[in-house]
Amino acid sequence: MNDAPIGIFDSGVGGLSVLRHIQEELPHENLLYVADSAHAPYGGKSPREIQARSTALTEFLVGRGAKAIVVACNTATAAAIGLLRERYQLPVIGMEPAVKPAVTATRSGVVGVLATTGTLKSAQFAALLESYGKNVRVVTQGCPGLVECVERGELDTSETRELLSHYIEPLLAEGADTLVLGCTHYPFLKPLIEELVDGGVALIDTGAAVARQVRRRIEEAGLATRSLTSGQIRLWTSGDLAQGRRVMEALWKTAMVEPLPT
Ligand code: DGL
Repeated sequence: MNDAPIGIFDSGVGGLSVLRHIQEELPHENLLYVADSAHAPYGGKSPREIQARSTALTEFLVGRGAKAIVVACNTATAAAIGLLRERYQLPVIGMEPAVKPAVTATRSGVVGVLATTGTLKSAQFAALLESYGKNVRVVTQGCPGLVECVERGELDTSETRELLSHYIEPLLAEGADTLVLGCTHYPFLKPLIEELVDGGVALIDTGAAVARQVRRRIEEAGLATRSLTSGQIRLWTSGDLAQGRRVMEALWKTAMVEPLPT
């Protein structure tokens, strides 16, 4: 079991921003990644639809021998993590917007959260605000359309730029000095966001923290690999293969993307 791979999924290519951190944290582990690009974005879907997709992808990864599952998607975590943990007897690691570290980091006392509508509407997010959002002002901003830009590999087009500034400007106007990138697609837009906020604003995401949590969980479960050679990575997409290869090559520097069997 120790040499079994870790399975990771997202609604699309966004979770590659988490995969990067997992590879750095656990370089000897074999990693399987599924981009559910045929069904992206998850942000406007019902919890029931997201649960069905999350179960199908977990089933695929478990079928490939995964010893642990990482839900590299804030939206899917909010909708489906409870169900996956009930169904599967293996470590299931999810993620949530980095409200806690942002609350510690802010000096202006205003934190902006960029996330999908699904994440912001979820009970998990309400609980997060209840726990950590008491002494600062947390201003939230749903970002419809942004995931689609990243899915198309448009990280710096005029459409992406316009959409982003439309979402960020109200947060800056409220005095936010710390922005939470509460969706795993958004770290790929960091260079553009940094340009738009023009310094003085901290951007926080949870990729590195999730990777550390994956390490802890597999070590606690006695599942860490004993291999000392570099792990293998396999990538699948449920979406258009040519587009998946083009975008993943740009984001991950490899075109070795396979079609997800239906
Ligand atoms: N990467 C997903 C997340 O972290 C994006 C959700 C979507 O597909 O809308 O929330």
